[in-house]
Amino acid sequence: MTEAVSPDRRRVLTAGAAVLGAAASAQLWLPATARAAVHKPLPDGVFSLGVASGDPLPDGVVLWTRLAPDPLNGGGMPNLPVPVEWQVAQDSRFRKVVRRGTAQARPQYGHSVHVDVRGLRPDTTYWFRFRAGGQLSRTGRTRTAPAAGSSGGSLRVALASCQNWQHGYFTPYADMLEQDPDIVVFVGDYIYESVPSATGVRRHEGTGEPYSLTQYRNRYAQYRSDPDLAEMHANAPFVVSFDDHEVDNDFAGEIPQDPAKQPHDAFVARLTAAYQAFYEHMPVRASAVPNGPHIRMYRRLEFGRLARLNVLDTRQYRSDQATSQEGAQDPSLTMLGAAQKRWLVDGLRHSPARWNLIASQIMMAETDLQVGPGKLWFYDAWDGYQAERNALLQEFRRVSNPVVLTGDRHLTMISDLKADFTDPKSAVVGAEFVGTSISSNGDQDQEAFRKEWDPRRADNPHWKLLDAHRGYHLFDIRRSGIDARVRVVDTVVKPEATSRTLAALRVEAGRPGVHLV
Ligand SMILES: [Fe+2]
Repeated sequence: MTEAVSPDRRRVLTAGAAVLGAAASAQLWLPATARAAVHKPLPDGVFSLGVASGDPLPDGVVLWTRLAPDPLNGGGMPNLPVPVEWQVAQDSRFRKVVRRGTAQARPQYGHSVHVDVRGLRPDTTYWFRFRAGGQLSRTGRTRTAPAAGSSGGSLRVALASCQNWQHGYFTPYADMLEQDPDIVVFVGDYIYESVPSATGVRRHEGTGEPYSLTQYRNRYAQYRSDPDLAEMHANAPFVVSFDDHEVDNDFAGEIPQDPAKQPHDAFVARLTAAYQAFYEHMPVRASAVPNGPHIRMYRRLEFGRLARLNVLDTRQYRSDQATSQEGAQDPSLTMLGAAQKRWLVDGLRHSPARWNLIASQIMMAETDLQVGPGKLWFYDAWDGYQAERNALLQEFRRVSNPVVLTGDRHLTMISDLKADFTDPKSAVVGAEFVGTSISSNGDQDQEAFRKEWDPRRADNPHWKLLDAHRGYHLFDIRRSGIDARVRVVDTVVKPEATSRTLAALRVEAGRPGVHLV
């Protein structure tokens, strides 16, 4: 049996890799089997999945790759740990290498590599690359966060979500690359677990939904083969979280969408596989190494005193969805779970930041689907957990400039957040951007969309913009305000698209809410 690596042990290894900085020192970490493996040639194309970076700090960033010469068939690596050298440089030609080391690609983590590099300078662009078995990866580019005390400057954030392989090519990333964001915040549905379809724009690999670790690995690997996504990962740090489709549609904690079809034990095994594959493919820290069917994904990132980003997990700790309007208002339902709720409220109350961003997978503002009197809600969103949502919105009154960044809806929905959605005169306490989708729902029929959704606007006066194009949102965050642009593409059913700004909006510091420019 190969050695088991606990999260703590892993943290020591990655930190050690950053500090020791010499390839030779890696030999000290290796068991005899791994030393033997160093001298065995690896199959060609170990870097087929490219490179990525994520979760930037003022002095560091996570560098990622996964060795997978046969990416759609389990990876294709020998069942041995493999040392992977890495370098970080101040220039794209690696003349000024500032950090280097060796990390282990281990079979029990799908030969993924997560290097938590430290000792870098704040607010600085770096280039990085990996080498394994004599093969060199492509070069990646990344950027550290501003220094802890810095208060000025600007931060460019891209908000993305919902990339269904079968619904289209990920063309919005080509435009995002040109816009050169400092970070990409991805709020869920990185993969879809759906069965391969003969009628899609592209077809999912495999023969059905993924359940096993190998099946989830293959699905992630297929998604990473989209050239625009791969290029974006190689050019900016991502801050990722998951929603439901990384596991199973509309699951809640350990409850699957359809409990009759997936017994509890089988679903726990599925969660375990899905979370591990998520960790293996994402540029996240060792704190996100899963522990069986549990993964710590909620976390906080700081961008000087300009912005604090609270990344929520609205899937793992929630109560099962309500099935009625009364149920949606049941005060015993939770979206965040007690520990995460405390963590969030503490982080909002004591934030030193001008802007308090909250990445929530699912929409917070009300969506009343019932035209005219009465209400009809989506129970999977915050509308289905109203007591907790309303308490959080009351909390927003005391928070410096709260702005919620969301996905899930496959629509652009930009709203004022109100202290009480049942009272039209209630105070505006924040703003929410629901960032459409990268490709999910494909090229939508805009006329049909308008016909369905425009009649609902009168019942939802807090909606400032509603649109069904594919794309993403881009934010230029400064102390005085956030300038937001809704960037859309004309198509995702072809690999190339033209892009444009559909709308520009602004959030003024000190004035809750959002308005069209
Ligand atoms: Fe989605």
